Amino acid sequence: MKLFALSLTLVLALAVTVACASSGADLYNSKCSGCHGKDGAKAAASSGNVTLKGQSAADIETKLKGYVDGSFGGKKMKVMQKMAGKLSPEETTAVAEHIATL
Ligand code: HEC
Repeated sequence: MKLFALSLTLVLALAVTVACASSGADLYNSKCSGCHGKDGAKAAASSGNVTLKGQSAADIETKLKGYVDGSFGGKKMKVMQKMAGKLSPEETTAVAEHIATL
């Protein structure tokens, strides 16, 4: 019985991890990849010539929050203020964690 409970806990933990991972990826692919590229490496005018690839989850999260509170931004910050403002705190973390894996 103990073993059963343990396996159940493991399966649940795994399911939660997978659900979070896919929601960060889904968010990125549907809302961000158009400007930043599927792999985060696109540095076109539409992305303000910045690349997300190679940045840590913590950096991305700080920048996204910075757009919302006005403490971070470049010449095209208005574009990102709109995008970042639509994300919940959980979505911000999930998408930042996904970007770090690109
Ligand atoms: C309409 C095009 C567009 C979309 C869609 C978009 N971005 Fe951006 N992103 C930009 C532009 C333009 C900049 C540069 C803004 C500036 O000048 O600060 C930028 C900058 C950023 C930066 C800062 C990078 C750095 O190192 O300076 C992050 C992080 C970012 N975007 C994440 C995201 C995420 C996450 C999403 C999806 C939720 C997203 N972006 C969707 C255009 C877009």
